[in-house]
Formats: sequence, C-alpha cells, structure tokens
Amino acid sequence: MSLVAVLGTGSVGRAIALSLARGGANVSLVSRTPSQVEPLDGVTVISYEEATSDVDAIVIAVPGGALEDLLATQASWLDGAFLVDATNNIEGTTYSQLALFAHYTPTARVARAWCTLGWENFLDPMIDGVPLDLAWCGPEGDDAELLTALIASTGLRPVRVGDLSTDYILEYVTRLTLSLIFGTGRSRKLGLKILEGPNFS
Ligand SMILES: NC(=O)c1ccc[n+]([C@@H]2O[C@H](COP(=O)([O-])OP(=O)(O)OC[C@H]3O[C@@H](n4cnc5c(N)ncnc54)[C@H](OP(=O)(O)O)[C@@H]3O)[C@@H](O)[C@H]2O)c1
Repeated sequence: MSLVAVLGTGSVGRAIALSLARGGANVSLVSRTPSQVEPLDGVTVISYEEATSDVDAIVIAVPGGALEDLLATQASWLDGAFLVDATNNIEGTTYSQLALFAHYTPTARVARAWCTLGWENFLDPMIDGVPLDLAWCGPEGDDAELLTALIASTGLRPVRVGDLSTDYILEYVTRLTLSLIFGTGRSRKLGLKILEGPNFS
C-alpha cells in the first residue's frame, strides 16, 4: 500500500486525499491546525510536527502564494522526498513555481499533477463512463510509475505530458480549463481529453 501525505486541507487537498484513500493508499492529510480539520473517511489528519518524509509521495495543495513559505519552513523534511506540486500561483506571472523547489528542496524529486482540473473532478472522475484525463509532468522512472498508479487508482486517466520542462503546457491546460469555466460559463465538470489510437504503420 502506498503511503501518501497531502499538505493543505482546502477543497483541493481534501479531494486529493479522499480520492487516494478510496483508491487504496494510506493517506495523511497534513494541517497547521489539525484539530480544526473536518474528518475524512479513511484519511488521518496530522500536524506538520507529526509529518514525516517516510512516505512514498507528498502532494502539496496549499495556495500558490503560500508555497515559498511552506518550502522554506518545511525544507528540512521535504528535501529528498518525492514531491507532487498541485499548486497554481494564479496571482503570479506563471502558475508553476518550480524554481522554488530547486532553491529550497534541491534534492527533492518533483512532479506537477492535480493542477489542471477543478477539484470536484478528483472525486467524480468520469463523464458518461469515460474517465477525465489528468495531465501531469515530471521525470520518468520509479516516481513516475508510482504517480501514474496513484492517479489511476482515483479513476482519472493519467497523461504524462513530459518532464518538468513541460510545466508550461500544464499551465496552458489549466488556463484553458479556467477560461472555459469562468470565461464562457461552462460546467466545472470538464477537462481536455486526449484521444489516442494505434500508431500509423
Ligand atoms: N480550485 C481548484 O479547483 C484547483 C484545482 C487544482 C489545483 N488548485 C490549486 O490547489 C491549491 C489549493 O487550492 P485550495 O482551493 O484547496 O486552497 P485553499 O483552500 O486556499 O488552501 C488550502 C489549504 O492550504 C493551507 N494553507 C493556507 N495558507 C497556508 C500557508 N500560508 N502555509 C501553509 N499552508 C497554508 C490550509 O490548510 P491548513 O490550514 O489545514 O494547513 C488551507 O486549507 C492552490 O494552489 C490552487 O491554485 C486549485
């Protein structure tokens, strides 16, 4: 069973934590004030003091503007771990802030995932029996295999876009999602779908 910690207990962190727990992972939801967090079925709520890097993956779901402070104050245990960044720095020049990881957690292995869809879809990942795609980016290897399995366990279809240099593509996907929802009034239950058949011979 995979061990996952999710940092941040807002709508996004809670939905990721619950979907992963439903998928069979052992999930801790990490909060600055755990006693104030509403319990979630199958998820353990703990404090940052109780959190440990002795997990397979740590998903970060705090506000984009809080990421630097989080990495600066928690680097001692986050550095060296497998970190999955779900944040979008909506107020910033870019949604992705990978330079912060390079600065504060230089030995962490980093991926970006769960940042391109509205959070409700993490708990309700199908439309007419078809799973929504969850685009993610990060290096290939064992961590990629774990992340692929974790995403798939929630019912979403993982789509690796490329290594971390493709984070700007995730930003386009996120901007498309936000524009469709907030710019044109479409449903929050939507996502870009990659259709793929066998390669041309
Ligand atoms: N809205 C969406 O559908 C969506 C989808 C994908 C990704 N995202 C991104 O996911 C992230 C989380 O979104 P959200 O709506 O869940 O955010 P949120 O409700 O504003 O905050 C999430 C949690 O982060 C923790 N937090 C807040 N300020 C913090 C700080 N200064 N330092 C450390 N922790 C802090 C809090 O948990 P505790 O108080 O318990 O520590 C809070 O409940 C954002 O970066 C957002 O852009 C959003």
